Amino acid sequence: MTNPQTASPDKTLAIVGQGYVGLPLAMAAVDAGWSVIGIEKSAGRVEQLKAGSSPVEDISDERLAKAIAAKKYLASNNPADVSAALVVTICVPTPLDDARNPDLELLESATKDIAPHLADGTLLVSESTSYPGTLRDVIIPIVNSLKSSNAKEIFFASAPERVNPGDLVWDQKNTPRLVGGIDTESLNRALAFYNSICDSVVATSTPEIAEAAKILENTFRLVNISLINEFTQLCSAQGINVHEVINAAATKPYGFMPFRPGVGIGGHCIPVDPLYLTWWARKGGQVASLVERSDEISTQMPIYVAERALGIALGKSPGPGRAKRVLILGVAYKPGVGDVRETPVSALRTALIARGAEVAWIDPLVPAWEGTEPVTEAWECDVAIVATNQPGMDVNSLLARGVPILDCTNNYGHLAGVLLL
Ligand SMILES: NC(=O)c1ccc[n+]([C@@H]2O[C@H](COP(=O)([O-])OP(=O)(O)OC[C@H]3O[C@@H](n4cnc5c(N)ncnc54)[C@H](O)[C@@H]3O)[C@@H](O)[C@H]2O)c1
Repeated sequence: MTNPQTASPDKTLAIVGQGYVGLPLAMAAVDAGWSVIGIEKSAGRVEQLKAGSSPVEDISDERLAKAIAAKKYLASNNPADVSAALVVTICVPTPLDDARNPDLELLESATKDIAPHLADGTLLVSESTSYPGTLRDVIIPIVNSLKSSNAKEIFFASAPERVNPGDLVWDQKNTPRLVGGIDTESLNRALAFYNSICDSVVATSTPEIAEAAKILENTFRLVNISLINEFTQLCSAQGINVHEVINAAATKPYGFMPFRPGVGIGGHCIPVDPLYLTWWARKGGQVASLVERSDEISTQMPIYVAERALGIALGKSPGPGRAKRVLILGVAYKPGVGDVRETPVSALRTALIARGAEVAWIDPLVPAWEGTEPVTEAWECDVAIVATNQPGMDVNSLLARGVPILDCTNNYGHLAGVLLL
């Protein structure tokens, strides 16, 4: 196979953004026979990718290097390279701004970067998560105002990504893909593209249905996790083991889905996407009150955990003038990944420090975090909190020293000296 930039355009895909979504998509497309140009803004990341070093856990260096060696994948920081592609997907972040409202700046600037270079007949798909109407009201007007005069017809679709980093079962290929086209031809082209990569592709009648479905999926998780976190606090105050309650309720074969308590909600999706919904509701003159309350409960959960842990440490006598020392085990937002963006452990650490504690942390997958380095289990402490159950952490050595542990992950409750949420 030739260089992706000179390969046949009818099997060339350009992906804008080479992160947790864009790179796994690139590798899935390579597996499906596409030549992929990974357009990435960060020069450092482009160099890393070119060297065959994967920046995301789900893609091994070997897999990336193999795609590069086969000339099926090339990273580039030149947005003009989209001109070589028949299909272009946008996979850039859609975070919140300081006021916790949708921040579409990266999505808009990525669209502006590529719009003048799209070839006639290109299918442009947004995979980034956003509120319903983003494709129609934000992306398409930018493209139409900046596209070249040669690009007479551009096709548009929304196909929100559902990837779950670290998931060993569900990936780009076997997770059903929602696709909504702006018109019938766009939908047909998008269906053909995703059918070439995914086992199952589901058409929606409009892009807005696909966009709204993605937001609903993640809001469903926020609301249910918040419900279980609130329920956990009620049970704990009444001396009831919430895990037994959840296990008992989960014996019902229909109408119940178990969610588990934890430090809070993390990652780039669950704490963020529901606020795209609340913003969208308010923009339309409505209030998504259950979702807003769920966000409040989830924001408060790390504070509850901090206070529980410091309550446990009260039983220890630290000596005159010494602050309570708290060791946090696991700081990534979920087990098996080194990703600390939006981790609720950050709010936990802040809450502990605000209450006068001295805080250190361990995470075998995170080399540095918030300007600090990890310690080891030998760090002298009054209490330890298992916040994220990362592989390679040694709770037994802490228990052997008599350090009480608050386990927020429900993995160590069988050990003496461990308390659960
Ligand atoms: N990470 C997930 O689990 C997940 C799951 C489903 C959906 N999503 C959604 O997918 C989208 C992307 O998320 P992600 O986690 O892959 O983000 P990410 O931060 O891991 O990767 C995004 C990449 O885009 C690059 N980028 C930013 N602006 C660019 C531009 N103008 N041109 C080229 N590259 C640019 C960034 O440098 C970064 O490398 C977001 O909308 C997110 O909500 C994420």
